[in-house]
Amino acid sequence: MLDINAIRADFPILNQAVNGKPLVYFDNAATSQKPQVVIDAIAEYYKQINSNIHRGVHALSQMATDAYETSRQKIQQHINAKHSHEVLFTTGTTHGINLVANGFSAFIKQGDEVMVSAMEHHSNIVPWQMLCERVGAKLVVIPMDDKGELILEEYERLLSGKTRIVAVNHISNSLGTINPIKYIITKAHEHGAAVFIDGAQAAPHLKPDVQALDCDFYAFSGHKACGPTGSGVLYGKEEWLNKLPPYQGGGEMIKEVRFEKSTYADLPHKFEAGTPNIEGGIVLGTAIDYLNAAGLNHIMAYEQELLQYGTQKLLEIEGLKIIGTAARKAPVISFNVGDIHPYDIGAIVDKMGIAVRTGHHCTQPVMDFFNVPGTVRASFSFYNTKEEIDALAEAVKKAQRMLS
Ligand code: ALA
Repeated sequence: MLDINAIRADFPILNQAVNGKPLVYFDNAATSQKPQVVIDAIAEYYKQINSNIHRGVHALSQMATDAYETSRQKIQQHINAKHSHEVLFTTGTTHGINLVANGFSAFIKQGDEVMVSAMEHHSNIVPWQMLCERVGAKLVVIPMDDKGELILEEYERLLSGKTRIVAVNHISNSLGTINPIKYIITKAHEHGAAVFIDGAQAAPHLKPDVQALDCDFYAFSGHKACGPTGSGVLYGKEEWLNKLPPYQGGGEMIKEVRFEKSTYADLPHKFEAGTPNIEGGIVLGTAIDYLNAAGLNHIMAYEQELLQYGTQKLLEIEGLKIIGTAARKAPVISFNVGDIHPYDIGAIVDKMGIAVRTGHHCTQPVMDFFNVPGTVRASFSFYNTKEEIDALAEAVKKAQRMLS
């Protein structure tokens, strides 16, 4: 069980008034708040060991390198990767997707297919579209139904010997759907296709086991999982990372540089050109320790309670419609009230201290599918409470009265 009061006390930002009202932060799918240990670890890094890594013989450089590589190992254990060199530090999920989509040009040709799903974030569509345009491949879309669940029979029908890679999210950012990725991975592999999982929305809620899933790639961002902005991870199977060409050239990613030809460093350095976000990589490890100490199973159970409570509370509001009603959902509730524009609701509830996201949530095809201009999205975290959900429901009712 989680001690919610103790957890809330770990997050200093929550203890403030916004627009004269206690802050209710329900924009967790956009970015999470940071516990004091994470904030302190950032300051400690700069106060004590700030130095460039993998370069110096001096003591500070060694300490920073050790802290960075210890964090990599921590992440390896967290996601159960076989080797620590399968864990690449990135600036976030978008970086990881672009890294693979770029390198994938070497493994795909004209007439081949790349498959994404109908509920992807733009960042898991556009880089694959760019890849398809470069090589003359086709982007194929796994359809969803009106609950926001992928239609798996259609997925199986669309898979073929032409499918080179399937890129799907673990959890949808705008609908909250938890996708059956193990099944998706198994089916793709039966057709010889690789699988890329966008884990951006999953990392704050669960511990992915990349070996059990048998995914080829899994990416997530640190900032959504209590870590610093600009930190992230791309997991890739050793075999794939050895085959993929480097994404960026620069310092630290080479073995030897000659004007005629350069050779590249071993994993993971081949994909980590230039000075990385050292503090971000180190402190992402602190954030993961914090989540594990709270217990991701407890976090998930409590967030499911919030999801059920929030769904029930919001559905009591006349004319409110939830977009995304999958059987398995993360604590994300996207909704509209009658034909009131989502932006107007967002602006009014903000005046009452409640932070929600409004708009298309970087998923325009999802909005087109549901034929809405956008939604109001309340996304919960383990530091939120049922009382805060009550405040949201009251605020939405007030907005409805003001706008009708
Ligand atoms: N991808 C983030 C969201 O869903 C920014 O809000």
